[in-house]
Amino acid sequence: MSRKICVALSKGGVAKSSTAVSISHGLAMAGKKVLLVDTDDQGQDAFLLGIPAQHGLADVIVEDMCAADAICKARDNLWLLAGGKALAGVKRSIGRKDFGAEQTLSDALAPLKDQFDFVIIDTSPSWDTLTINSLFYCTEVLTPVSLEVLTLNSLLEFSERLKSVQAYNKGLKHSYLVPTFWDRRVKKSSEILDQLKKHYPKQLCDPIRYCVRISESAGFGKTIYEYAPSSSGAKDYQKTVQRILSHE
Ligand SMILES: Nc1ncnc2c1ncn2[C@@H]1O[C@H](COP(=O)(O)OP(=O)(O)OP(=O)(O)O)[C@@H](O)[C@H]1O
Ligand SMILES: [Mg+2]
Repeated sequence: MSRKICVALSKGGVAKSSTAVSISHGLAMAGKKVLLVDTDDQGQDAFLLGIPAQHGLADVIVEDMCAADAICKARDNLWLLAGGKALAGVKRSIGRKDFGAEQTLSDALAPLKDQFDFVIIDTSPSWDTLTINSLFYCTEVLTPVSLEVLTLNSLLEFSERLKSVQAYNKGLKHSYLVPTFWDRRVKKSSEILDQLKKHYPKQLCDPIRYCVRISESAGFGKTIYEYAPSSSGAKDYQKTVQRILSHE
């Protein structure tokens, strides 16, 4: 059975896409077959991976294209089902459904059942129909938390909303919190990390340090392991990947 991990927090710019791409490629490099699904209409995952995605999730949901035909090979062991502007139409079509709206993504991905060891879902910064669909499909949630006070508020709000989905998707676990933009020189960063340790001792992963190489890599369509393999960003994300693998 595939492990299905939703990378989510209803807040912009906390490193959801960077994290989704980095753990997907890290798992693929560890020999796992991985599908990355981009449910954000910004469509950044194709850009981050440097691949022209001709088809994507919108083709599967709105045009009834077979999911296997809409995925694009991004790297060895790694495939992408791309997001992008066309997802606006997907959200409208989900909104028009009389019933089963929250199962739309699960139905669309069902034909791919068990073809992948991991399905990683990148989500948008808003609590929209596609984010809710992703949480109905997945069994695990990984939340990147940038070490700022406002993000902590968003995390509390997100945890509450997650409970309302868990009432229906009973197997859904909030498994991982990944602190991002960690800078030990910033006092606030350490204080927030301490609070996370106190409140989420089981879920808390080692932090991802602030690493300018991560933001640079985006412009080259390379993952952090390709662009700067000895950078702190590559090392930190490898640790997250190992932690995910240790739960198999
Ligand atoms: N550890 C890091 N150090 C420095 N820059 C980073 C780090 N992680 C991510 N970034 C940069 O921060 C910006 C936001 O990251 P990213 O796009 O992954 O966030 P996001 O949560 O997906 O944003 P959105 O909510 O818009 O989807 C990007 O420019 C990215 O390259
Ligand atoms: Mg993003």
